Amino acid sequence: MAEVAKLIIDGKEYELPVITGSEGEKAIDIGKLRQVTGHITIDPAFMNSGSCYSSIAFIDGEKGILRYRGVPIEELAEHSNFVETAFLLIYGHLPTKQERQKFSTGLTRHSIIHEDMKNFFNGYPSSAHPMAILSAMVGALSAYYPNVTSADVTAEEMDENYVRLLSKVRTIAAASYKKSIGQPILYPRNDLSYCANFLHMMFAVPAEPYVVDEDVVKALNLLLIVHADHEQNCSTSTVRIVGSSRANVYASVSAGICALWGPLHGGANQEVIEMLQKIHDEKIPVSKVVADAKDKNSTFRLMGFGHRVYKNFDPRAKILKASCDKILSKMGIHDPLLDIAKELEEAALKDSYFVERKLYPNVDFYSGILYRAMGVPTNMFTVMFAIGRLPGWIAHYKELRADANAKIERPRQIYTGNTLTHYVPIDKR
Ligand code: CMC
Repeated sequence: MAEVAKLIIDGKEYELPVITGSEGEKAIDIGKLRQVTGHITIDPAFMNSGSCYSSIAFIDGEKGILRYRGVPIEELAEHSNFVETAFLLIYGHLPTKQERQKFSTGLTRHSIIHEDMKNFFNGYPSSAHPMAILSAMVGALSAYYPNVTSADVTAEEMDENYVRLLSKVRTIAAASYKKSIGQPILYPRNDLSYCANFLHMMFAVPAEPYVVDEDVVKALNLLLIVHADHEQNCSTSTVRIVGSSRANVYASVSAGICALWGPLHGGANQEVIEMLQKIHDEKIPVSKVVADAKDKNSTFRLMGFGHRVYKNFDPRAKILKASCDKILSKMGIHDPLLDIAKELEEAALKDSYFVERKLYPNVDFYSGILYRAMGVPTNMFTVMFAIGRLPGWIAHYKELRADANAKIERPRQIYTGNTLTHYVPIDKR
């Protein structure tokens, strides 16, 4: 017999279907509740509400598990690269050699941005935050590839747009950095892999040959892999909500980039390094930082700590922490901020405030240390997160488009404003 939940309102009993996910997750389907009972459910900030069915990523926050299409994040971090992981997320399976070759060729072929688009960069002040440039430029891509807005666009054309977006995002990101430091924008190199090509466009200077450092390429692959998807987080939900109105993929992803920018989401990686730098420069004792983070009269939070879903170690933070030591020592770098981060983690994990609330370091706590070691400036950290998260956003957009029953996403509310209030002319107020 199908499992049901029972709800009693004013003494009347209603049966609600219970849904079970492929990992045994349970949900009560309230889709017809209003129709049947006149009630809606209320759950501000979606603390406990599923918004969709999805087969892309699985998280068990209590056990600290993250899998992309069933594959554990630890296995991908160790054996895969970003391009292969992107294919896995978007197409649902690990690519064959031929599929991977075709995908990589597409990424190479679409890497140059339209020459006219280069003019946009001149319109921004050199102090512009690169996330402002990235979100605008990604939205602007719809003007150059208008077939995405056509109702008749084919699946093949959409696939081409997904590859185009994945490829161009790194060219746009690197160009916004070059512009901010007053250097000429560099063309991508077709002989380089996805990550090496990005590093070339970021760090090469026209007058000197650029030598790709394979350790840095490996570190970048790792960082992008661990950021590649995280189910219905704030930015991905934004992409899905915007996409549910049938807005095109560039517009939907541009909205996701804006959502990612906030300091409680992807913007936290920049805030973490700024926090660690301040502790270092002003020699603030770690005990004071922990005390400030606990102080309810202060708005200060320990950035890079806590997570809506993980109530155990964030597996991505574990991977990055272990890599920090390995990668930095291989590069011959000693970063005092890494020492502070470790000391802070140790102090917080012993503190009852953090223990009781199950607050652990999240992915952003150690990512900035690695980006710094690679020479990426702090204001580019959230852009790096966006490049990494792009395959996830595309996969969710694609999943939504493929769902024949998908409806425009439109929550309800409980109204708390004035009851009927008549208009009073200005001279009588
Ligand atoms: N420092 C101090 N206290 C915290 C922190 C923190 N970093 N995070 C949560 N708390 C406290 C919070 O004050 C609350 O305490 P109380 O129960 O006494 O009111 C309790 O822990 C629960 O926090 P919440 O804000 O209700 O939890 P949430 O699920 O709404 O927020 C979060 C999750 C990630 C926004 C939050 O933990 C936070 O602000 N962390 C710092 C920002 C950060 O690192 N964000 C990156 C998240 S991972 C990357 C990504 O995917 O976006």
